[in-house]
Amino acid sequence: MRSLLWLAVVGLAVAEDGLAAWLRYARVPSASRHLGKLPSAVVTLNATKGYPVHTAGQELVDGIGGLFGKKLTVAKSKPKGTTATVGTVSAYVDKNPSAAKGLPDLVEDGFYLKISKGNVLILGQNERGALYGAFHYLSVIAQGNVSDFTLTSNPDAPVRWVNQWDNMQDGGTHGSVERGYGGDSIFFWDGHIREDLTRAGQYARLLASIGINAVVANNVNANASILTPENMDGLARIADVFRPYGVQLGLSLNFAAPQLLGGLDTFDPLDETVVNWWQGIADNLYKRIPDMAGYLVKANSEGQPGPMTYNRTLADGANLFARTLQPHGGIIIFRAFVYDHRSLNQTLDWKADRANAAVNYFDGLDDKFEDNVVIQIKYGPIDFQVREPVSPLFTHLRRTGATVELQITQEYLGQQAHVVYLAPMWKELLDFDLRVDSKPSTLKSIVSGKRFGQKLTGYAGVVNVGTNTTWLGSHLAMSNLYAYGKLAWDPEQTSTGILKEWTTLTFGHDKLVHDVITKISMESWPAYEDYSGNLGIQTLTDILLGHYGPNPGSQDGNPWGQWTRADDDTIGMDRTVWNGTGFAGQYPPEIAAMYENIETTPDNLLLWFHHVPYTQKLKSGKTVIQHFYDAHYKGSATAQTFVTLWEKLKGRIDKERYEHVLFRLIYQAGHSLVWRDSVNQFYFNKSGIPDELGRVGNHKYRIEAEEMELKGYKSYRVSPFEAASGYHCVVTETNSTVGTATTKLKVPSGKYDLAVNYYDMALGNSTWELFVDRKLVGKWKGDLEYELGRAPSPYIDGQTAARKTFRGVRVKKGSELKVVGRPDGLEPAPIDYISVLPEGTVD
Ligand code: GCU
Repeated sequence: MRSLLWLAVVGLAVAEDGLAAWLRYARVPSASRHLGKLPSAVVTLNATKGYPVHTAGQELVDGIGGLFGKKLTVAKSKPKGTTATVGTVSAYVDKNPSAAKGLPDLVEDGFYLKISKGNVLILGQNERGALYGAFHYLSVIAQGNVSDFTLTSNPDAPVRWVNQWDNMQDGGTHGSVERGYGGDSIFFWDGHIREDLTRAGQYARLLASIGINAVVANNVNANASILTPENMDGLARIADVFRPYGVQLGLSLNFAAPQLLGGLDTFDPLDETVVNWWQGIADNLYKRIPDMAGYLVKANSEGQPGPMTYNRTLADGANLFARTLQPHGGIIIFRAFVYDHRSLNQTLDWKADRANAAVNYFDGLDDKFEDNVVIQIKYGPIDFQVREPVSPLFTHLRRTGATVELQITQEYLGQQAHVVYLAPMWKELLDFDLRVDSKPSTLKSIVSGKRFGQKLTGYAGVVNVGTNTTWLGSHLAMSNLYAYGKLAWDPEQTSTGILKEWTTLTFGHDKLVHDVITKISMESWPAYEDYSGNLGIQTLTDILLGHYGPNPGSQDGNPWGQWTRADDDTIGMDRTVWNGTGFAGQYPPEIAAMYENIETTPDNLLLWFHHVPYTQKLKSGKTVIQHFYDAHYKGSATAQTFVTLWEKLKGRIDKERYEHVLFRLIYQAGHSLVWRDSVNQFYFNKSGIPDELGRVGNHKYRIEAEEMELKGYKSYRVSPFEAASGYHCVVTETNSTVGTATTKLKVPSGKYDLAVNYYDMALGNSTWELFVDRKLVGKWKGDLEYELGRAPSPYIDGQTAARKTFRGVRVKKGSELKVVGRPDGLEPAPIDYISVLPEGTVD
């Protein structure tokens, strides 16, 4: 008990499981030296328990207590000594009318900070702004800066929402959270709102600290049952735990709910009974949640119902909700992700293009939407790929406001099992100048409303946290959530600046920790692009299954429209106006001209806009195919360095998080090789053009499992073929047969790194043992489906392929190398190959 008390007093974090994320309030170095520059008491102006100003007071007490070990008191009026005063501008001016003149103009949610000799003034334009100001002040002092400063901070855009794709129920193809890799929903379980919403409240706290003002809690593929009276009561409970943090609740709707839930025989948006039904829903929701933010609607997309089912326009659909929300002050965010995944025909129609859909559907509707409608547009025209051009739809909406939809959950970007710091990608997108009317028109200026003057604009981030204590399934992935909030508030901030802040708050002040995290993070997106899909070809993942492992062949030959049009000689989507799908023409003329011409199209989007031979020369002088080979080698080589970099941090951060990150980085290093080899093998096989450096298809350190002496194991042809070295792996003959694969080593005696490539399917937990001369080198279990949050798969393919490496193993020429595989459940202990690598070599 005593030691627990002591820990509480000195503010040490007892468990670094990630739950506190960047709000750990861990003691700053030399804390006691700064006490004189800190307030001694907190004064909250007009604070009501359960509302943001009151919360701000609490955070200041907790924060300064944790960071500096200084115990503050909360007072109603000004006590003696230095104070932190926090409240709204109006509450402050009421008390000090003469102070009004000196205060800056704040927009909604903005704040003003004045720090002077330990006295702190934190004023918000509203209560939420006051809380943001308190969090900002705490972040500054947590970074060790206790000097005086004055700051006026206004958000760049009013809409700063996050979307959760949480299902009401577990199961189905995606489990409890669609494209979620951090565990089950923190909001819903078994068709209902969870009784215990502690995590929802903690989530709101994190979000408020980065300026997020609303959360849409349920999946855009919405279940109509969220609107039953019982679930509305549950939603009100979510809103209650959000409210102290100024986070409002938003709701995804199923367009067909009047029929599915209401028992009407139609959901036609112009039908009076339908309109009345929705009005009843809005009234009932707002009765329970008067400050509800509004709705998010996915309609006529990927099989979801929508207004076009009745030949009505998308504007008719959006306006239906807009009008029912107007009496309550809510807004409706209508998604532009509208396309038909069933009708596109790749073989018959050279001009067919899913990328064209959004502009085609929304053109002509700009002035048809009600004022409280916002259009939410994914950053690129397809679907959260590793690189896409900015969606041209942003240039077509000048009266109606838009939000840009970014994805924090790394659906196509390694599902948090690969580290990919996304701020550099988002910055590139936000800084891109779309040249509307030949005037500067960056994406950030459009979504801030500055370029076209709309009032409702901003940001939407698909986050998908879950019950895992790390929130997203990976500690490092949390920098993406942090960066999202920071950029939505102020897109001028730099990727490295944001990262520095986040690293200090999350891992402390150690310079080496900073250097390592910065290096890994800043190299991570380019590396991932290099090994997963470069030159604008998109993430070459399995688009029909989990969107995780490599499967370039899955892009084509189906109506989903994420095509590469790769054949034996050529590759890429011709999106030109003169000869292709015409997509380039959806941009304003200067940009259209740039993409129309192969010479002016940047290499990194070449295959997005042009269909070329594999031998097409890039600006670098390399051919497309050689660039593919080289980039896949380069990117995966970079991923190997993440492991050694991270290992430098042993003992410098807590063991729990160190090991958690290390495990993922080792896995990523192995899986990046799976990516490299699958993609290179696939295009080598298609094009028949050899790698100039002779690497592709030649792996001199490898021993193919199917070529070893097998007992209880049999050879198995893998599909897709490129997901296995030599196109084959071995699997046990039955579910209960133990398999052994044995060989005699021919390498000179010495120390080697032994890497075993195997497949870890979500059908059981096989075990493998590796022996050299009958001595056990190591043993491991096929339980990645529990260790990693990435989409589980029952197949032997690029998604389940993994590598286990044992470093520095002593072998002799002629040593016997043996792997023993024990199947479990339906998982037949598959092995692809074993690499016997001179120490430090990668292959
Ligand atoms: C992607 C994703 C789906 C999601 C959809 C959307 O296609 O794979 O899971 O529902 O985007 O954004 O609506």
